Amino acid sequence: MTITIIGHGYVGLVTACVFADFGNKVWVIGHTKEKIDKLKKGNPIIYEPGLKELLQKNLKTKRLLFTLQYDHAIKESEIVFIAVGTPSKENGEADLSTVYDVVRNIARFLKKDLTVIACKSTVTVGTNLKIETIIKKHKNKEAKFVIASVPEFLREGTAVNDTLNPDRVVIGSESKKAINLLLKLHQPINGKRVIVNLASAELIKYASNCLLATKISFANFISFYCQKTGANVNHVLEAVGLDKRIGKNFLSPGVGYGGSCLPKDVRALINIGDRLKINTNLIKAVEEINLEAKNNFLKTIIKYAAGKNLAIWGLSFKPETDDIREAPSLHLIQKFLDNGFTIKVYDPVAQNNIKRIFKEMINYAQTPYQTVKNADALVIICEWNEFKEIDLKKVKKLMSKPYIFDGRNIYQPEEMEKLGFKYFSIGK
Ligand code: UGA
Repeated sequence: MTITIIGHGYVGLVTACVFADFGNKVWVIGHTKEKIDKLKKGNPIIYEPGLKELLQKNLKTKRLLFTLQYDHAIKESEIVFIAVGTPSKENGEADLSTVYDVVRNIARFLKKDLTVIACKSTVTVGTNLKIETIIKKHKNKEAKFVIASVPEFLREGTAVNDTLNPDRVVIGSESKKAINLLLKLHQPINGKRVIVNLASAELIKYASNCLLATKISFANFISFYCQKTGANVNHVLEAVGLDKRIGKNFLSPGVGYGGSCLPKDVRALINIGDRLKINTNLIKAVEEINLEAKNNFLKTIIKYAAGKNLAIWGLSFKPETDDIREAPSLHLIQKFLDNGFTIKVYDPVAQNNIKRIFKEMINYAQTPYQTVKNADALVIICEWNEFKEIDLKKVKKLMSKPYIFDGRNIYQPEEMEKLGFKYFSIGK
């Protein structure tokens, strides 16, 4: 099959590489020459485990083609995926302007043979119908198309594996032809098929991300009780998660959820709900607790840190990615600076992205050990494996005061006490 994917972020690029690897011819359309040139040379631009290898392999077979032009790609393709960003506007609403821009471009080059236009971008309920209207308005008379919503559930850090082994493939469409063609394309991919109407597919995506955010905020909410009652949040939530109706995933408390998806999708669902006059208190609380989780951690550090020299480990919004969009580290670093702390940071891959924001305001180390040298306290914001396997005795020797504030609960309090650390973690 020949397909086109518009957008080369985490969703677009990973999907393109995986479908090309299955033997399809895949066009990827971007809008920045510099980025397309890098991609053509096998540089994925983003850090995602396994992606570079998959990109380079499929560039060699010439099944993966990058371009800035719509004409050839759209004319040749049976399916065109939209996988562009839908960031938050100031009022929380999803900004759909890029989606509508690319849709107008697609419309101009549609051919007589049927094209399926499938939206992977996370879009507000009703957007796909609007896409249909825009295409009808801008296409040639004889061009034929149908639309579908194919929401994406991959996670950064495990995106390649998630694309190959999703729990479900959701296809929302009113067109049998679109459904059949999409089922054919997804044949080599695992996971249950869920065929629904357009609005359901659009809402499945928001419902999924908002329930994940709800679980995390609930875990943090329970951690607040644990902190004040002597209960241990890990023991409490592990036992809670053993109930199969609840499940153990996404119940890790910490400094809150970040990234380019959960925060923006919670805000968008609040916005949609408010417009539909639905009571959105539940997800408003999810968002409030997420901020509270960061601020409680901050308060503990301000209250107990024995000095102003902080070492920080882990800057990306989660491990195995260099993505710092809405990362808890951004909020915390700014607050530490506001409170007069001196900061030295380390992250295995996200360091340069943080440097673009905080520049000379903070210091940068090349290793976790360099970071803690002469520090009054170590703050852990993201749980990279490297930190779990670190030589803690060496860390203690290097620090000027043995204080650790662990925002992701990666160590055992008893062991830390034995090693002589003053160890503060979440909900214990
Ligand atoms: C999320 C969803 O998990 C994906 O299914 C979805 O496809 C994606 O958004 C999207 O909409 O594109 P992602 O943003 O990559 O994926 O990251 P998650 O693994 O969901 O983690 C989000 C945040 O929650 C991270 O900051 C992580 O540290 C935090 N988290 C996660 C916790 O604080 N506790 C947990 O128990 C789990």
